Amino acid sequence: MKISVLVSGGGSNLQSVIDHIKSGFLDQAIIVQVISSSADAYALERAKNEGIPGIAVTRQQWPEEEKRNEEILRLLTEAGTDLIVLAGYMSILSPELISAYSDRIINIHPSLIPRHCGKGYYGKRVHRSVLESGDLKSGATVHYVDEGIDTGRIILQETVPVEPGDTEDSLAARVLAVEHKILPRAVKLFCEEYLKGK
Ligand code: GRF
Repeated sequence: MKISVLVSGGGSNLQSVIDHIKSGFLDQAIIVQVISSSADAYALERAKNEGIPGIAVTRQQWPEEEKRNEEILRLLTEAGTDLIVLAGYMSILSPELISAYSDRIINIHPSLIPRHCGKGYYGKRVHRSVLESGDLKSGATVHYVDEGIDTGRIILQETVPVEPGDTEDSLAARVLAVEHKILPRAVKLFCEEYLKGK
């Protein structure tokens, strides 16, 4: 099963999927390309180190969102993508792209959706929102991407405790460790279902 991974930053979630393919846990999957919204994302370096084609499709190159999404859709189609994984991807996908890959786009979000998600809740803001809310737990969610923001059907979730004295960074690190666990598991669940239907 061919996966295209969309990234914007450090790519630690990308690395986790790569590592789970190499370990044989994801033995039915191959990452055919990494598409980054940022030309200097370390995730592109990780792809290069693994011999995976990495492409930047940025606002600078493609200022018009529609044209940028058309380019991404072209790359996805050309590579024969079966599953799109958003791994720290910080750009919005067009409705056209989402409907072209309906129920074949998954995203990792660093909170227990439907709490602390939606427009404006990205990066550290998510963890700040959890700390400000007084929630005693947080966690990570892998969900399908639909036209909304962080509103698609949930595939997997795992909780972490919020500890006294937690900062955004300490909570983010605890959540990130769980992200790295549940994203490969969600890809495997998708793989099994998808290949059953093939
Ligand atoms: C992660 O917390 C992810 O959930 C969020 O971006 C952060 C960095 O991810 N969307 P990565 O290290 O680039 O995979």
